[in-house]
Amino acid sequence: MVCIRQATVEDLLQMQRCNLLCLPENYQLKYYFYHVLSWPQLLYVAEDYDGRIVGYVLAKMEEESAEVHGHITSLAVARTHRKLGLATKLMSAAHRAMQEVFGAKYSSLHVRVTNRGAFHLYTQTLQYKIHDTEEKYYADGEDAFAMRKTFPVDEQAAAEKAAATEATEAAADKAAPEKAGGAARKAGKRR
Ligand SMILES: CC(C)(COP(=O)(O)OP(=O)(O)OC[C@H]1O[C@@H](n2cnc3c(N)ncnc32)[C@H](O)[C@@H]1OP(=O)(O)O)[C@@H](O)C(=O)NCCC(=O)NCCS
Repeated sequence: MVCIRQATVEDLLQMQRCNLLCLPENYQLKYYFYHVLSWPQLLYVAEDYDGRIVGYVLAKMEEESAEVHGHITSLAVARTHRKLGLATKLMSAAHRAMQEVFGAKYSSLHVRVTNRGAFHLYTQTLQYKIHDTEEKYYADGEDAFAMRKTFPVDEQAAAEKAAATEATEAAADKAAPEKAGGAARKAGKRR
């Protein structure tokens, strides 16, 4: 059995190991620390029955951007555990936290133009759209698709918020003449 849970500092070495086994884009341990210390809610791991990390997602919030959004820095699942839905679950957990904790409007990521597995996951399963193509984005000269997934506005929450605003405004309208009268009476007393 594999469980998906939020990552802790203790997981970072195993996440880095999983990354080294799965991807050519590798990071120093301090970069993992930077993520977990800055946005602990955005790192998730897939842990097997023996406590081995078999997948992870490393995500962050983009702070130097006009629109609040999250960014997937890295995602990988061990070969032994692929096509079981783990990447989908890891990504969904990160997406949820981006929205609920940080109010993100969308999530962004880069993917190699030849990475068909990841491309299928992002476009077909997770509904990311190609936003741009960045030439020679990777160190070996390969191009990247810059992709985005816009988070749907929670229609029910939006409707409730609109109804609450309407009710507050109606209450304020009702109260306004009284307030105005009260102010006038006070003003009258002072005279
Ligand atoms: C890409 C990767 C993370 C997918 O992980 P995974 O756990 O196997 O993905 P899931 O099981 O959640 O699969 C999600 C969907 O993608 C599809 N998919 C996964 N790997 C695929 C592949 N190699 N080719 C085609 N489709 C693939 C699945 O069939 C599934 O489709 P569905 O929702 O239509 O049924 C994994 O293959 C991996 O770690 N690759 C190496 C690292 C990497 O490329 N990371 C992404 C860098 S941007």
